[in-house]
This record gives sequence, structure tokens and C-alpha cells, in this order.
Amino acid sequence: MHLSRRELLKAGITAGAALFLPSAGLFAQAGPLLQRRIPSTGESLPIIGIGTARRYEAVTTEVERAPLREVLRQFKELGGKVIDSSPTYGTAETVVGDLVSELKIRDALFIATKVSTSGREAGLTQLERSFKLLRTPKIDLIAVHNIRDTRTQLRALSELKQAGRVRYVGITTSFEKQYQEFEQTMKAETLDFIQVDYALDNRKADQKILPLAADRGMAVMINLPFGRGRLFRAVHGQNLPPWASEFDCSSWAQFFLKYIVSHPAVTCAVPGTAKVEYLVDNLGAARGRLPDAAMRRRMESFIDGL
Ligand SMILES: NC(=O)c1ccc[n+]([C@@H]2O[C@H](COP(=O)([O-])OP(=O)(O)OC[C@H]3O[C@@H](n4cnc5c(N)ncnc54)[C@H](OP(=O)(O)O)[C@@H]3O)[C@@H](O)[C@H]2O)c1
Repeated sequence: MHLSRRELLKAGITAGAALFLPSAGLFAQAGPLLQRRIPSTGESLPIIGIGTARRYEAVTTEVERAPLREVLRQFKELGGKVIDSSPTYGTAETVVGDLVSELKIRDALFIATKVSTSGREAGLTQLERSFKLLRTPKIDLIAVHNIRDTRTQLRALSELKQAGRVRYVGITTSFEKQYQEFEQTMKAETLDFIQVDYALDNRKADQKILPLAADRGMAVMINLPFGRGRLFRAVHGQNLPPWASEFDCSSWAQFFLKYIVSHPAVTCAVPGTAKVEYLVDNLGAARGRLPDAAMRRRMESFIDGL
């Protein structure tokens, strides 16, 4: 059974009443989102956010914007906060900035973007452009994209942080060949966040990077949680294993996301989300039980055996 939020609200079922819902499916629609703390401040964030690469990158018409407006509106309504963007994602910062401003939901969100260039002047110019496009005087998190010109850009970010214009700073990668340099940077710098690729079929980050983040007190945002859709292709045509219900999982997206966010070092994941249907599904991974260590091993064996 699947009820929309509107139908649930009509029936008088709100987040507060979720405990009385008769089935896990309904619970998944209405419960509060699970949260994790950012180690450097203790601030809590919902464990599932939204990534804006690709589907937000070439949006020029109202017809293209309308579904994204609905995604962002419902994201906030359902308790979502974290939106990840980048100046390298075409129109993404513009679209997020315009829609968030139109919907008047800026204060409810945690907006993350990146700096992705070389040289101090180029970095500062790009950063100022992000403030303008995102239409906000304060950005929650800015990370050095793919550790490009890291030391120079981190210095500029630290100045912005001291000036109160950026709340958190960090670094990102999604390339295994950068992991060694990434780890060295994590050891050498004081960072609030790291962002790295991690997925049920791409688990290399859990060897060194995730434990190091826990040791260093850094929040972890996970990119490419579905491997750009690769995981959905891997299970195409297959039913969920019956034991997925043991951790309140009712879709493949939730299976993949619950694996990620059940890693104790992970703060949140940012699946690329441009459809309301996907949004509701993905936020379901932030409700109910999460797999424990033994169940996580079982999930790994399942995917490795495909
Ligand atoms: N180095 C970096 O800093 C870096 C690198 C890569 C990504 N990122 C960040 O990570 C985010 C996520 O990466 P991504 O968007 O490229 O890949 P992803 O999240 O691994 O996968 C997105 C794909 O999953 C599909 N999808 C999403 N929710 C679904 C659902 N519930 N059911 C079925 N399919 C679903 C989407 O389908 P449709 O195609 O139909 O929409 C899309 O093709 C990016 O948006 C970006 O913010 C950062």
C-alpha cells in the first residue's frame, strides 16, 4: 500500500502520529528523518539529502524547472535539509538559488557547494559567483572540489569562514586515484567535512577514508550513492530479498542508501534527485531501522554475488 503525503495528511496522520501507523510502508511516508551530528559543532543533519549534478545542469525553461521546484518544495516539507551543488554543474546553482528564493525556504536548508578552480583570484571570483547564484549571504558548506589547488582554496575558505560567510569547509573527491592525496590532506588540514564516493558496489572509501574521518572528527557526505544509477542496472528485474524488511526497506533505492548511511562514520548521502517519486523513495531511507554490522555484511555478499 502506498499513500501520498497529501492522503496521509487528509487522514490526519502527521509525523507525530507515525508511531501509530499500522505498517512499515506507511511509517516510511510519515516518520521524522533520522539525523546525524556534524562532529565539529554537534549540529544535526538529516542523513539523506539531494545532489544536483546532471539533472539540474541544463535547465533553462519553466517546463524543465517545474518538477525541480516541486522536488525542493516537498524536500523541505518532508524535513530534508542538505542540498549539494557545484559551480561546475552548469545551471545547478542558478536553479537551486532561484527556486529556494522563490519558495522562501532558504533558512530551512543546508546548502553545500564547492570551489573548483586553480589560483586564489580565480577561486575568490568563483566563490563570489556562487553566493550570487545561490542568492544567499551565507553558504553552509563549501568544499574544495576534487582536491584541486587545495591549499590555496582552503586558505580562502578559511577567511570566508572567519568572516561568517561560510559555516563549514571541506574537500571532495570521487576518484580512487586521488584517495592517497585526499587522505594526506585529511591528516594535514582542519576540515569540518569530507565528501567521497561510496556505494554498495564501490566500498573502497571504507578502507581508510571513512575510519580516518571518524578519527579526525570530520563529517562525511557521500556522493554517487547509486554509482550514477549503476546499482539499479545491476539489480534490474530482481525483487528485493525478503530480509530487507528486517531494516524497514521497501525499495532498491532504500536498500542502497541504508547500506551507506548505516556506516557509523557517515553523516549523510546526497543521491541525485530530480523527481518527486525518487525524493519520497530516497527519504524513506532516513526512516525506520538501519542495517546492523551483520546485515551490512549480508548486503555486501548479496551485491557481490550478482
Ligand atoms: N567529486 C564530487 O564532488 C562529486 C562527484 C560526483 C557527484 N557528486 C555529488 O553527488 C551527487 C550524486 O551523484 P549523481 O547524482 O551523479 O549519482 P547517484 O546519486 O549515484 O545516482 C543518480 C541516479 O540515480 C537515479 N535515481 C535517484 N533516485 C532514484 C530512485 N529512488 N529510484 C531509482 N532511480 C533513482 C537517478 O535517475 P534519473 O537519471 O532518472 O534522474 C540518477 O540516474 C551529485 O548530484 C553531486 O551532488 C560530487
